[in-house]
Amino acid sequence: MQKLSVAQARQTESIGQQVTLQGWVRTRRDSKAGFSFLELNDGSSMANIQVIADGELENYETEIKHITAGCSVGVEGTIRESPGKGQATEVQAERVILYGTADAESYPLQKKRHSFEFLRTIAHLRPRTNTFGAVARVRNCVCNSIHQFFQENGFLYIHTPVITASDCEGAGEMFQVTTLDLNGPPKAEGKVDFAQDFFDRPSYLTVSGQLEAETFACALGKVYTFGPTFRAENSNTSRHLAEFWMVEPEMAFFELTDNMDLAEQFLKRIFKDVLARCPEDMEFFNLRIDKTTLETLQGIVDSEFVRLTYTEAVKLLEASGESFEFPVNWGVDLQAEHERYLTEKHFQKPVILYDYPRTIKPFYMRLNDDEKTVRAMDVLVPKVGEIIGGSQREERLDVLEMRMAEQDLVAEDYWWYLDLRRYGSVPHAGFGLGLERVVQFITGMANIRDVIPFPRTPGNAEF
Ligand code: 4AD
Ligand code: MG
Repeated sequence: MQKLSVAQARQTESIGQQVTLQGWVRTRRDSKAGFSFLELNDGSSMANIQVIADGELENYETEIKHITAGCSVGVEGTIRESPGKGQATEVQAERVILYGTADAESYPLQKKRHSFEFLRTIAHLRPRTNTFGAVARVRNCVCNSIHQFFQENGFLYIHTPVITASDCEGAGEMFQVTTLDLNGPPKAEGKVDFAQDFFDRPSYLTVSGQLEAETFACALGKVYTFGPTFRAENSNTSRHLAEFWMVEPEMAFFELTDNMDLAEQFLKRIFKDVLARCPEDMEFFNLRIDKTTLETLQGIVDSEFVRLTYTEAVKLLEASGESFEFPVNWGVDLQAEHERYLTEKHFQKPVILYDYPRTIKPFYMRLNDDEKTVRAMDVLVPKVGEIIGGSQREERLDVLEMRMAEQDLVAEDYWWYLDLRRYGSVPHAGFGLGLERVVQFITGMANIRDVIPFPRTPGNAEF
């Protein structure tokens, strides 16, 4: 007998087939006529399939009539046209195998709607809910699109290390990796002697694969890295995780405008694919989570992003008449409230801000001729704010060394990065897209902790 997924069994083409289905029961309903309906879900789609289990089945009284939400079952039977509305097909069971029971008293997922806060405390069971199933499928679709986009456009997928000795963003938000005994570490001259640590030096979980990706771009042209990154920033917000996934393309012979063009094309491709490939899940998000998401995504696919310098943005904000909690003036880092004003109120679409003050951006961004700004770009979207951060890289050795000194970085620690500027240096650029931010934006989920399977935030590392 052929194994089908629930998604396949729901198609009218499957009518008449003898099949096996396996999954988890969402509900059981008994008919007075002596048979039962089981709603079966296996994660292949948002929708369940209805199983009709006849009273004649051998284990009807002993098992089927005791099936509750959460039980796992196998069903062998025939797919037929469903007379009920809301579904094209149903399964007439010839055999129901009960794999695992789920005690109705203690099973935490009951039929009522649970809050997302509660579901975070049962992160091991929340994938069985409609919302988290849909998030997982959309997240998968986004990852697939990311790889397809780059593969179709001649990029090589590079794996950059998770453990590193350099702080790419220079923000000092790194988790240290050590095998030293923290209760009595070896000391030299009163300080911890990292020469005796596993890597003979202080080492950390990476905040970004960019620096290593640059080495491959400066040999192979267009590359991307896509992996987990870690930030020990103690920010308990709805947009920050301590562990998140970032996709970072890096391109030789790209300047800032090329970089912006790529970022815009890339985001549009992801949105287009999700709309085309996850219609059922997106309908759900649009209905239950954020009533504007379908319209917003379609609107973005069909229109141009706004491009604006930081300086112009500051002028706009100053002239806005809004009373911001953090006042704006040239030189300050923009806060979420400022980004939201630009994307939600003023332009009502994605905005690419570029040419930021050198003082608020990392050392590797290319210095402009005005010597006040660097060739940075941030892509901002409504609600979520910054979704992409990137720049053209400083390819001039002397300027890069000067910028590093300015930010108190020790040039010797970055000798290999500087070598890229010593030997065959080229203009190049790249950016980083936060995977969870993009999934958050697409689904309309309010909290970033609900778009990653197991969120890591200050105080939370269970599961
Ligand atoms: O702007 P960021 O810090 O840029 C970089 O790390 C560059 N090295 C990327 C590059 O040019 N290759 O981070 C890039 C993106 C942000 O725009 C945001 O979407 C996401 O990563 N991000 C986070 N997402 C979740 N939680 C956090 N704590 C994040 N920090 C950054
Ligand atoms: Mg950034």
